Amino acid sequence: GKKTKLVIAIDGFSSCGKSTMAKDIAKRMEYIYVDTGAMYRAVTLYAIRHQMILEDEVSKEALVQDLDKIVITFQYDENSKSNETYLNGENVENEIRQLEVSNSVSLIAAIAEVRHHLVRLQQVFGNDSGVVMDGRDIGTVVFPNADLKIFMTADPMIRAKRRFDELTEKGEMVSLEAILANVEKRDHIDQTRDESPLVKADDAIVLDNSHLTPKEQTALVMQWIEDKIDKK
Ligand code: DC
Repeated sequence: GKKTKLVIAIDGFSSCGKSTMAKDIAKRMEYIYVDTGAMYRAVTLYAIRHQMILEDEVSKEALVQDLDKIVITFQYDENSKSNETYLNGENVENEIRQLEVSNSVSLIAAIAEVRHHLVRLQQVFGNDSGVVMDGRDIGTVVFPNADLKIFMTADPMIRAKRRFDELTEKGEMVSLEAILANVEKRDHIDQTRDESPLVKADDAIVLDNSHLTPKEQTALVMQWIEDKIDKK
């Protein structure tokens, strides 16, 4: 029944609503939710603040040396009703979503040592609790034995439009073209990097939500979860 603790891995392209869905599922199942993208973003923010990124170059050695000093935690916030990201005790939830971080995060996520470090932290979250984790390599690297793997995708223009609406709603001045370019650039880097490129795990179910309402999507995924629980 509901007490069955599954590990649910959600991977896919950027801005296709992975975290919104993952949060919703985690809440319904009373599982913990881990946003691994936020962890890469927090490391990126650290690198930006310490002048470790100049143009498109990262001072990799300096960053790798500092990895143990970068403590990332999540804390539930009553106002936003969701987990917020903390970097060394400071709430950086808003800052890590800004375009400056988005534009550099792929560089940071391409560094093997950064990935190994974060993957180890992520695997700890999966110990003996029901967990929903979203990212790019959850079903392939972090939890290859996950109970349910979902690979999310949606049309790039639809994703750019959603991201645009989200940012303009927060009062950020951005252009749709810039967002689309960012989405496409990240897709390309995510899929072609040497370290853990974004690929669908063989046993992942594809979820293309270009034309699904959030409600339809939730119903579909809850059905998949129930099927997995019945088989356990
Ligand atoms: O999901 P997101 O847009 O917040 O992710 C930010 C970046 O981090 C994105 O460019 C891909 C990278 N990422 C990754 O390489 N592996 C993960 N598990 C999660 C995110």
